[in-house]
Amino acid sequence: MTDTAPPAVPASPTARPRAAVDPARPGPVADVADRAAAGFADRYAGSPAGRWAAPGRANLIGEHTDYNDGFVLPFALPLRTVVAADRQDGPRWTVWSELSGEPVSFGADEVAEPGRVTGWAAYVAGVVWALRDAGHDVPGARLAIASDVPLGSGLSSSAALEAAVLAALVDLGGLDLPAERWPRLAQRAENAYVGAPTGILDQSAVIRCRAGHALFLDCRTEAIEHIPFDLAAAGLAVLVVDSRAPHRHADGEYAARRAACERAAHLLGVPALRDVPAAGLDAALARLDDDETRRRVRHVVTEDQRVLDTVELLRAGRVRDTGPLLTASHASMRDDFEITVPEVDTAVEAALAAGAYGARMTGGGFGGCVLALVDADRADAVADAVTAAYAERGYRAPGLYRATPAPGAHRL
Ligand code: GLA
Repeated sequence: MTDTAPPAVPASPTARPRAAVDPARPGPVADVADRAAAGFADRYAGSPAGRWAAPGRANLIGEHTDYNDGFVLPFALPLRTVVAADRQDGPRWTVWSELSGEPVSFGADEVAEPGRVTGWAAYVAGVVWALRDAGHDVPGARLAIASDVPLGSGLSSSAALEAAVLAALVDLGGLDLPAERWPRLAQRAENAYVGAPTGILDQSAVIRCRAGHALFLDCRTEAIEHIPFDLAAAGLAVLVVDSRAPHRHADGEYAARRAACERAAHLLGVPALRDVPAAGLDAALARLDDDETRRRVRHVVTEDQRVLDTVELLRAGRVRDTGPLLTASHASMRDDFEITVPEVDTAVEAALAAGAYGARMTGGGFGGCVLALVDADRADAVADAVTAAYAERGYRAPGLYRATPAPGAHRL
C-alpha cells in the first residue's frame, strides 16, 4: 500500500487551496525530471548516467480483484516518480530522496534478507533484494529520487518508486530481464521485503500501461490488452479527487479483506474467487453461512464482471456508457466490501449530483482517491461541487486533478 512510501514533492498540485482542476499536463513531468537530476548533482557531484520515470496509477475499475486472480483495468497518470542514477563500485546502494533530505546507504548485508532496511528506503532495498534473490547481478548504484505522485493518496506512489528504481537498475546493469517480468519482481519487493500483502495491480499498471489506453489485465495469467481510452476524443475527462481522508487502519483492513476472500474460496472449493462465475453467484452464496462472507464474495464476483463489461463498452467506443458500472462498483465497495469512508462517499455523491456519468473510489480503500467520469467542459463545475460538499461537512478541501492516460515506466 502507499501510505508509508517516501518521496514526494512540496510543489504537488494537492497543495492548491482552491478548486481549480490541475490539468496534470506534461509540465510537472519536466520539473520532476529536472529535480531528480539536480538532486543527483547536488548530492553526488557530476551528472547521472540516466533518468528513469514511473507513473502513479488510477484503477478505472476492478478493486480487490487482483489477489483473487481476477481482472483489473488501470491506467497510468501523468504524475511521476523519477530516479536519476549512475553505477558505483561494489555492492553498495546510496539513495537520496527530495523528501527525506538525508541519503540512506546500504550494502550486501542489508539486502541479504528482508527487513533490514526500514522506512521509505525499504522500497529501494526491496527491489535490490528481489533482483538478487532472482539471481541477477545487480550493479551498485547512487540514486536521487524526485516525485510528483502524492503519498498516501492511493495512487501507488510505492509502486512508482519500485518501478523507477527497477528500470534504473536493469538498465545500469544491462540485466537480462524483460519488462513483462518486472511487475512480479516489484510486487515481491513490496510483499516480502516491505511486508505489505498487496496484489499485482499497482506494479503492473505503473510498468505496463500505455499512453491513451487502459490496461486490461488478467491477474491469473498476467495476459494484458491495451484498451483505447481516449477521453479527449469523446469530449470527456476523468476527474481525480483526492479525498484527503486520513487512512484508517488501511493495512490491517486490507489484510483482513484478503484473508476473508481466501477463506471463502476455500469454503467454496475453488482456487480463487475468480473461479466463481457471475452466473453461479447465487448458488455460491447459498453455500456460505455468514452474511459478511457472502457480501465479500458478492463484491469480488460482481466486480470481475463489471471489469469485463467495462472493457466491452470501451472496445465499442462507448466510454460514456461505462459511468453506471463505475457507480455500481462504488456501491459494491461501500455496501458489500465495506472499504469506503464518509469523505470518499461524499465526493462520489457530489460528483454524481453535479452531472458525472459515473464515480467511484479507486485503490485499496479507507481513504484515497475518487474518479469521476465527466464531460470535459463540466470538469471544473463538478470539481467545485465536490469542494462545496466538503466545505459543508467541514472536511479538509479535496485535491483535484484531471487524469490523462499516460505511459508506464521508461527511460527518459
Ligand atoms: C491496493 C493494492 C492492490 C489492489 C488494490 C485494490 O492498491 O496494492 O494490489 O489490491 O489495493 O484493488
